[in-house]
Amino acid sequence: MSPLLDVCPVDELQPGSCRIIDWEGDPIGVFNCDGEILAMEDRCSHDGAPLAEGVLDPERCTIECPRHGAIFDLRTGIPATLPAYVPVETFPVVIEDGLIKIEVD
Ligand code: FES
Repeated sequence: MSPLLDVCPVDELQPGSCRIIDWEGDPIGVFNCDGEILAMEDRCSHDGAPLAEGVLDPERCTIECPRHGAIFDLRTGIPATLPAYVPVETFPVVIEDGLIKIEVD
C-alpha cells in the first residue's frame, strides 16, 4: 500500500480553496472543488509554473496555469488547452477520521 501523507482536517479546506503541501521537496496542490477533494502536482508541465496560483474553477474542477493559461483537469491532470500538452501527476485522496490524506508512492 502506498504511504499516506496528511494534509489537513476536511473542514479546513473550504470549497473553492486549495492548500499546498510538500512531498520530498515536490509541491502538491490539494483542492476542494465544490466538495470533491483532488490532489495534483503543483508544477505545470509546460514551463514549471505553480498551478495552484492560477484560477480554480470549482464547478468544472479545472485550474488555469498562471503563466501561459493552459487549463488542466484536476481529476486527471490532463491539459484541456495549449500550450501545455503533457499531463501532470494526480494523487488519490483518502478521507480518514475527518482528515484529508493523499496517497503518494
Ligand atoms: S507554464 Fe503553464 S502554460 Fe506555460
